Amino acid sequence: MKALNTILSVFALLCSLVVCQGLQTSPKRGLLYIPNSKYPQDDAYWDAPNSDLTWYYNYGSTPSPAYSTSSKFQFVPMLWGASNDTSFLEDVQTQINGGANISYVLGFNEPDGTLATGGSDIPADTAAQIWMQEIQPLAKQGVKLGAPACTGAESGRQWLQDFFGNCSNCTVDFVPVHWYGNFEGLASHIGEYVGTFNRTIWVTEFADPDASLQDSQTFYNQSTSYMDTLGNVTRYSYFGAFRSDVSNVGPNGAMLNQNGKLTDIGSWYLGGGETGYTPEGAANVVHMFAGSSLVVILTVFWCLL
Ligand SMILES: *[C@@H]1O[C@H](CO)[C@@H](O)[C@H](O)[C@H]1NC(C)=O
Ligand SMILES: *[C@@H]1O[C@H](CO)[C@@H](O)[C@H](O)[C@H]1NC(C)=O
Ligand SMILES: *[C@@H]1O[C@H](CO)[C@@H](O)[C@H](O)[C@H]1NC(C)=O
Ligand SMILES: *[C@@H]1O[C@H](CO)[C@@H](O)[C@H](O)[C@H]1NC(C)=O
Ligand SMILES: *[C@@H]1O[C@H](CO)[C@@H](O)[C@H](O)[C@H]1NC(C)=O
Ligand SMILES: *[C@@H]1O[C@H](CO)[C@@H](O)[C@H](O)[C@H]1NC(C)=O
Ligand SMILES: *[C@@H]1O[C@H](CO)[C@@H](O)[C@H](O)[C@H]1NC(C)=O
Repeated sequence: MKALNTILSVFALLCSLVVCQGLQTSPKRGLLYIPNSKYPQDDAYWDAPNSDLTWYYNYGSTPSPAYSTSSKFQFVPMLWGASNDTSFLEDVQTQINGGANISYVLGFNEPDGTLATGGSDIPADTAAQIWMQEIQPLAKQGVKLGAPACTGAESGRQWLQDFFGNCSNCTVDFVPVHWYGNFEGLASHIGEYVGTFNRTIWVTEFADPDASLQDSQTFYNQSTSYMDTLGNVTRYSYFGAFRSDVSNVGPNGAMLNQNGKLTDIGSWYLGGGETGYTPEGAANVVHMFAGSSLVVILTVFWCLL
């Protein structure tokens, strides 16, 4: 596994330096949809005719109203957790019976994490039981099944090993992973999961949190180039599709700026060129309320800190 990681890292470095610089579009890309009632107009970016994105998930078992009639997006249902998601199988079967093309489903969201941090907090043996009832039956209908998506912590990989240990009759077709950190960490994390679980990988959440704009763009370029070239990663969805002033991973990686314009990263993700719209965090938005040069100076000062 060490050897595999080394190979992946060297490849990643080559990739980021030369090989992949020209690549800009990818059939692997999807939308991690964050429901957004405040600015519903933002929803239209992601399934626009010129958008590269082909699929989406929304942490739930049924399509989002914004995309329920979208001809562009394939919906990927998720069984988020143990307590509130009791009709998953029924929900998915209803969609299939209604003619929806459901090719993939996703298992639990961060079951190794606590509710307070957005995880679904399920013991691996309980998750295995629920899987057999609610997810496994879909395999007979040709649906490909994605493992529970653990946090990027080392304990996440242990949780998933316990899950596999408790679920010897589960047919897990691919393993979704999450990563918050730098590019080298992402490449190594993917390598560890391929090495441990011998499955293709979907990276269903990834970002470099609280990084500078330059670092966010470098991370974005390196990680998407890498995943586009790596056969072991078949799909990915970047975090995130929201405005910079409400981002919980810092403003600079957001795909929309505080005024709802596509940032460079947002436009690149959809397959377009850079826009020049700079993302700002909530603190900076203050200057919109005043023409006062003092506020502007303070804002500039805050930026330099
Ligand atoms: C279950 O609860 C979580 C956390 O509140 C939420 O994100 C998820 O969408 C819920 N799932 C359903 C099917 O309501
Ligand atoms: C269903 O989606 C898959 C991709 O996930 C695609 O290959 C297939 O052609 C689609 N089938 C139909 C009937 O649209
Ligand atoms: C089953 O899961 C539990 C945690 O829920 C774990 O302690 C146990 O080791 C797992 N069993 C196997 C065979 O992996
Ligand atoms: C797996 O399936 C076999 C054959 O149906 C059955 O005997 C066994 O008890 C099952 N194992 C678990 C852990 O459910
Ligand atoms: C990995 O999975 C493939 C099938 O997808 C199998 O042929 C191969 O033997 C597995 N490798 C290991 C090391 O388990
Ligand atoms: C990962 O990629 C390597 C190199 O292409 C390949 O040999 C291996 O089978 C792949 N593993 C999986 C699980 O897709
Ligand atoms: C990221 O890639 C784009 C082309 O897709 C390029 O214009 C830009 O300079 C790159 N930025 C960084 C920081 O690598």
